[in-house]
Amino acid sequence: MNILAICGAANKQRNTAAMLKSAFDGAMSVPGTVGETVYLYDLNFKGCIGCHSCKLLDESKFARCAMKDELTPVLEKAIDADVILIGSPMYFNDITGETRSFLERFFFPGITYNKDSVPTYPKRPKVGWVFTMNAPGEFYRDFFGGLVGTANRIIGDSEYVMAYQTQQFEDYSKYAAMMFDVEAVKKRHIEQFPKDCEAAFEMGKRLAGGN
Ligand SMILES: Cc1cc2nc3c(=O)[nH]c(=O)nc-3n(C[C@H](O)[C@H](O)[C@H](O)COP(=O)(O)O)c2cc1C
Repeated sequence: MNILAICGAANKQRNTAAMLKSAFDGAMSVPGTVGETVYLYDLNFKGCIGCHSCKLLDESKFARCAMKDELTPVLEKAIDADVILIGSPMYFNDITGETRSFLERFFFPGITYNKDSVPTYPKRPKVGWVFTMNAPGEFYRDFFGGLVGTANRIIGDSEYVMAYQTQQFEDYSKYAAMMFDVEAVKKRHIEQFPKDCEAAFEMGKRLAGGN
């Protein structure tokens, strides 16, 4: 079973990458899995340019992104994966630009404009999302529901875990960040964040077929 983790956070040490690693470790704890993590910020690529090549009724072009850059091999791996884990922090009420650009290029060749549009990819991988954010937990539920619903339709059955009111700095006194209750943030990071990572681990394990 092929596991592919896609990290859409810039920093490899902080909340999103740590939580995504837990999800990946959970998936990899299931016997018979192989996998890798791709860090989108390491790659030179752009979002969909709307060339519509992936919609051409030409077998050599249909359902494949025609753009050739450092995302190209990642898209091939995603199409071939059995479990895809995607992590992003929330930036301005959305996933990061890099995550969004990846999804545009992964989702769009996966659909047609036919009336009875059925997904074009041969496999139906399981998709597990990891979201982290400052806002309280309820804040983005509709947004996550919409994104997960889109992935359900185009890619495969999806679920998500999240960590909210995350810790952004070690030392809040050095930053213009007076709106936070620093003690509450730190307490949450110590007490809740490990539980969030545990939930991510369990999600990864479950999606990879573990109990
Ligand atoms: C540019 C930027 C924009 C952000 N916008 C939001 C936002 O709209 N909503 C929110 O809840 N958190 C927002 N945050 C906070 C991050 O989502 C949050 O701290 C997240 O856990 C960071 O992930 P990381 O620790 O993996 O970098 C923003 C942070 C940055 C740097």
